[in-house]
Amino acid sequence: MIDVPRLEFRHIGKTFPGVRALADVGFQVRAGSVHGLLGENGAGKSTMMKILGGEYIPDEGEVAIDGQPMNFRKAADAIDAGVAVIHQELQYVPELSVMENLLLGRLPTRFGLVDRRKALAWTRQRLDALGVDLDPRAKLKQLSIGQRQMVEIVKAILRDATILALDEPTSSLSHRETDVLFRLVRDLRAQGKAMIYISHRLDEIFELCDAATIFRDGRKVADFETLEGVTRDTLVERMVGRDIGDIWGYKPREHGDIRLSVKGVSGRAVPQPVSFDVKAGEIVGFFGLVGAGRSEIMRVIYGADRRLTGDVAVDGKPVKASHIRDAIRHGLVLCPEDRKEDGIIGVRSVAENINISARRNHLTAGLFVNDAVEAKTADGFIERLRIRTPHRRQEIRLLSGGNQQKAVLSRWLAEKDLRVLIVDEPTRGIDVGAKNEIYNVLYELAGRGVAVVMISSELPEVLGVSDRVIAMCRGRIVAQFARGEANETNVLAAALPEGASATPTPAE
Ligand SMILES: Nc1ncnc2c1ncn2[C@@H]1O[C@H](COP(=O)(O)OP(=O)(O)OP(=O)(O)O)[C@@H](O)[C@H]1O
Ligand SMILES: [Mg+2]
Repeated sequence: MIDVPRLEFRHIGKTFPGVRALADVGFQVRAGSVHGLLGENGAGKSTMMKILGGEYIPDEGEVAIDGQPMNFRKAADAIDAGVAVIHQELQYVPELSVMENLLLGRLPTRFGLVDRRKALAWTRQRLDALGVDLDPRAKLKQLSIGQRQMVEIVKAILRDATILALDEPTSSLSHRETDVLFRLVRDLRAQGKAMIYISHRLDEIFELCDAATIFRDGRKVADFETLEGVTRDTLVERMVGRDIGDIWGYKPREHGDIRLSVKGVSGRAVPQPVSFDVKAGEIVGFFGLVGAGRSEIMRVIYGADRRLTGDVAVDGKPVKASHIRDAIRHGLVLCPEDRKEDGIIGVRSVAENINISARRNHLTAGLFVNDAVEAKTADGFIERLRIRTPHRRQEIRLLSGGNQQKAVLSRWLAEKDLRVLIVDEPTRGIDVGAKNEIYNVLYELAGRGVAVVMISSELPEVLGVSDRVIAMCRGRIVAQFARGEANETNVLAAALPEGASATPTPAE
């Protein structure tokens, strides 16, 4: 018998106005395997998944399941064929509960219209069996992005899909959620499902995937039938097509006087007072597990959440509590973790998104928008961070996930009168090559005297970029390390709650 792959992409091509997203791309996925799909931001990974999910119709080529060509015309066609795609950008109805979501389409047939109690019990039992800790009655809008993602994954499993594609599922999952996800994926593999797994975290690819395919600029550049014996460097080189060498590129800098001073600051989500200083030109990395209180304390410092106690000062001048405008007036700026939810103005162009903070400054200073300056700033970042877009006037929502991240991040990096920059997970969802450029921008800002605070859940990144590392656990600062002293073992040990085991973080 000839070995027919469960899933095959054959000569797929797809063009958008100004962008050749995929050109003659083919690869195969075996039943009972996890197939990694890698490539830089904008390489075409999500476009391929949307074709698999019936959301986009390819211009050329076809998808075949068990050797049979499928001509998906809409998402329902793919679902009927046993395909489940969990997209990078989740779509969900905020008012629906977890249960309603999981039972969508089967509630009346299985349970009749009224029997909510039975439906609730059934949902609970299924969630328990999968080891997923979710309240069936919670509304989706009350859940974290990670939890919403779990709902999508459970939905695919309950639908008995035979082909599952996960497009950057862990980029917003906590460590515990990631563990649960990995266990689910391994179980599904054991049941013979064919899975595609997209991630910019190479450690995850090695941990989970049996085989892998690499895209670059809409073309396939490599296939690996097995990842045994394949090195990280090989994958990176094939992905970016050049040697990026030392990804951190750290160089020591002179530090000046204290720029940011935080004394006894607390808020509702971080009740214990927190104190620390950052000097001009210094990059301080905050490491901690999800829930350690890093983002929460930074939001209080910036004024986005209420400050209950304590003082924040920039260059010795007090910053008003709970008052973002005053923070910005002092040159204190926070780039949030949820850049997309907080940040993107969907209908606007890439250029406008990059310039939005700078523009605010110009306007408050009573100036007109200067098109030429804005164009130059936008083009500068598009080139530097390799934002893949046909031009700066492109609507930002048409960019790939990682490229949207880069454009929105640029907004904070382009801020003119920065003194203190707090960046929360600045490289999430961003490819290896562009990460390196983001670090360079941070070094450059620090070189100009900006005090930089970087929150990251990727320990190697914290260690690679920071002059000083602060570890947080359960809302407190538990340890500080100078650059030379910090290493994976002592920082992780400090950040872990008592009694937790020291499993390394999934990280770049
Ligand atoms: N609907 C669309 N209209 C115009 N261009 C699009 C559209 N969808 C995708 N593109 C473009 O196609 C290219 C491939 O995008 P895709 O989302 O597939 O990349 P990706 O590999 O998933 O990247 P990332 O790692 O950033 O998620 C990008 O240049 C993107 O801007
Ligand atoms: Mg994508």
